[in-house]
Amino acid sequence: MAKELKILIMNGPNLNMLGKREPDVYGNRSFEDYFSALQFKFKETELSYFQSNCEGDLITKLQQADPIFDGIVLNAAAYTHTSVGIGDAIAAIETPVIEVHISNVFAREEFRHHSYISKHAAGVILGFGLKSYELAIHSFLLEA
Ligand code: DQA
Repeated sequence: MAKELKILIMNGPNLNMLGKREPDVYGNRSFEDYFSALQFKFKETELSYFQSNCEGDLITKLQQADPIFDGIVLNAAAYTHTSVGIGDAIAAIETPVIEVHISNVFAREEFRHHSYISKHAAGVILGFGLKSYELAIHSFLLEA
């Protein structure tokens, strides 16, 4: 049976280091491990995963994702706070994008309080640890 929704999870720079990177902020779990658990949990949903440390690759992937995916869960990581290009790419595509962050960026340094993504996002979920991704997937499923 075909899976109902196709959702792409995208991670930006340094999120390939999850599990090793600043565990006090981001936890001890690798994203690959968490992604396997998500696939097990959301069996009716076709989940895909893309990570890049390069801004242009993230922009190209966003452009290509439309119209293949029904929704995108995007943690642009540090590019959230710097990338006009990623914000423009989200504005350019029809596929809804939910912005997520593992940490509560508003409880952190001031430069993390601004996002070039939020204005173009369908919604923003942050501060729930890795659960932020799961909540975003639930949001797409509730709309279905
Ligand atoms: C992050 C928050 C960003 O400020 C930071 O640069 C990241 C991860 C988060 O998920 O909490 O790399 O997006």
